[in-house]
Amino acid sequence: MFTRKPLIFAALLALGSSAAFAQGPNLGKPIDPAELAAWDISILPDGTGLPAGSGTSAQGAPIYAQKCAMCHGPEGKGGANAAVVGGAPIKDMESVKTIANFWPYATTLFDYIRRAMPWQQPRSLTNDEVYALTAYILALNKLTGENDTMDAKTLPKVKMPNRDGFIIRFPDKI
Ligand code: HEC
Repeated sequence: MFTRKPLIFAALLALGSSAAFAQGPNLGKPIDPAELAAWDISILPDGTGLPAGSGTSAQGAPIYAQKCAMCHGPEGKGGANAAVVGGAPIKDMESVKTIANFWPYATTLFDYIRRAMPWQQPRSLTNDEVYALTAYILALNKLTGENDTMDAKTLPKVKMPNRDGFIIRFPDKI
């Protein structure tokens, strides 16, 4: 083993002085703003980041039936996966947390559905479809009216029941 060390050292020296190394590490090509936009999809509680588009509960119902009900049950009542409607009031750590009894911001619903659902095909929905599904789930929970349109202006205004149930550590960041 000992005799190999000078060889490794020599190899490192050669690498260090090579032209490629002198130019610095290869970090790839600069990212294109359009490529970046495809990944920059976070939505803040106040609605910052919400895209153009809109949808109503009536538009969301058939999309839900086709793409979501097989896991979340008919009309969001739960099935193989979590119910997206209802939920008993939270009493302790063991209580089941749901959109209606726990989530503080309606904008999170848009963010979550857009980035993660349907489970087997995330990022496959259009923004209009996500707004419609958000409207549908909010209306099923009676947090919005049946005919309310959800868009970048209306969605942040929906007040979730547990809105004030959190201690905000950095209020100025919201
Ligand atoms: C193949 C099954 C599957 C399909 C289809 C699916 N989901 Fe989900 N969904 C999940 C799983 C798994 C989770 C995360 C674990 C959990 O909460 O059960 C989840 C979580 C969620 C949550 C968060 C629930 C919570 O209270 O934490 C929402 C909202 C949601 N899905 C909406 C949708 C919508 C809208 C669709 C249709 C576009 C959809 N899902 C389709 C499996 C699925």
